[in-house]
Amino acid sequence: MWAQTDTIKPSAIWPDTHGGHIQAHGGGVIKVKDTYLWYGEQRTRDLDTAYRYVSCYASKNLVNWTFKGNALILTRPDQNLRNWVLERPKVFYNKKNKQYVMYMHIDGQMVDANGQVNTASGYSYARVGVAVSNRAEGPFKFIRTFRPLGYQSRDIGQFIDDDGSAYLIFEDRPNGFHIARLSDDYLDVEKDVCLIPEHMEGGAIVHYKGLYYCIGSLLTGWTPNPNKYATAISLAGPWSDFKDIAPPEQRTYGSQSTMLLKVEGAKQTTIIYMGDIWKPSAQWDSRYLWMPLHIGDGQLALPQPRPWTINVKTGQTNTSQPAGNTIQH
Ligand code: DGJ
Repeated sequence: MWAQTDTIKPSAIWPDTHGGHIQAHGGGVIKVKDTYLWYGEQRTRDLDTAYRYVSCYASKNLVNWTFKGNALILTRPDQNLRNWVLERPKVFYNKKNKQYVMYMHIDGQMVDANGQVNTASGYSYARVGVAVSNRAEGPFKFIRTFRPLGYQSRDIGQFIDDDGSAYLIFEDRPNGFHIARLSDDYLDVEKDVCLIPEHMEGGAIVHYKGLYYCIGSLLTGWTPNPNKYATAISLAGPWSDFKDIAPPEQRTYGSQSTMLLKVEGAKQTTIIYMGDIWKPSAQWDSRYLWMPLHIGDGQLALPQPRPWTINVKTGQTNTSQPAGNTIQH
């Protein structure tokens, strides 16, 4: 027996349909037919530390999620890599060949010619990894790691435009924030569409009523900071100055951006801010902050988090209910 709820409760434990706290950190959501798929970092305790894991959850309503298993179980992708991490996986669905293509941030330290771990930061590898599957839930087959267009790449985000073209957003420490178009098969990063010379991570973009909105966080590791947004008529820019998405002293209500999800319903289009509330010393217990944004006419604001409901068919949300109904199964 587990209690399913119709309410999204920011920062609370978010049980999947088996009762476990959802493990999909730094994740992304895509919709394929009428199913939402949420991929993210699997950080359950007691995992085999020889591997890194990407989880897959499925939902029809964005509230109740079924664990579909670990879509990717990855061994060390480079023999010279040590203390390695897999972060912020994002999956694109390529309608042309019905293939799921996963991007992820792969990082860690390298060993030098003498077999010694270099003293540089634990995040000196700075690459993306790519994996593919013909099934949403995997297993994904790992292909390779690379530096997109030759640049360092740490946090990644994904954006799919209204015409179906797919973009990787990646943080390049020396230069800034790239928006780069994927190749037709999504297996490569083909073209830099824009380099925003801001040092920001957790990048996400949405297209809403003729305007692109881009958000990201400052570079403060796992510690929350005031996330910011800018707007542009074209992905190529020019982008406006970056402004706070919430009162800066709230530090994005303790969260960090990972995605902007557009829900186009019959009555309303809702843009959901998806953020992570990281717990660096207990990552399995990291929480989620999802809230419908106040957005339009070039303004974007993350409201004070509180429980809310969404009807994905109409696109309508309700944030007035303090608690929400509980359905027993
Ligand atoms: C902030 C990033 O956004 C996270 O994905 C993670 O890489 C942490 N930094 C590590 O400190």
